[in-house]
Amino acid sequence: MLRLYGRRRKTRLIACFSWSGNTEALAELIQEQTGGDLYKITTATPYTEDYDALLAQAQEEQKANARPELDGQVENWEDYDVIFVGYPNRRSDAPMEALTFLESYDFNGKTLIPFLYQRQRRVWKKPLQCGEERLGGTNPGRL
Ligand SMILES: Cc1cc2nc3c(=O)[nH]c(=O)nc-3n(C[C@H](O)[C@H](O)[C@H](O)COP(=O)(O)O)c2cc1C
Repeated sequence: MLRLYGRRRKTRLIACFSWSGNTEALAELIQEQTGGDLYKITTATPYTEDYDALLAQAQEEQKANARPELDGQVENWEDYDVIFVGYPNRRSDAPMEALTFLESYDFNGKTLIPFLYQRQRRVWKKPLQCGEERLGGTNPGRL
């Protein structure tokens, strides 16, 4: 493991879920600035490309508090110290697959930095709440 001046260098992961590419572009900017590995969160069943159909699906998933199944896994999770997790605002909340991701990994001892892409200027707090109160204690990242 790489050590600088006796301290291990912090290893960063930039994970993102992106439907039309904007959050992914943001993730790439973060990577340029901070270094680290990019990881694209994908669902087992790919989302429709039709905006209206996606809107209806998102509404259903939010109503059902669904946790869509994800495809693939982050390799060497234990090696990362700082985890950026990005996703788009979806109906004033986080997409449910982002919650699946956040609940799927142990964030104990790690620094979680959520980031959001959205169309509106107004900053919404709810999509960025990934703390204990939101995820029932499964995720220690509190914002
Ligand atoms: C189903 C759906 C719901 C959305 N709801 C919101 C919203 O409530 N507020 C907002 O600012 N943007 C909303 N957006 C806009 C997205 O945040 C925007 O399209 C963003 O670029 C999507 O990110 P992506 O390109 O990474 O998929 C919504 C988009 C979709 C597809």
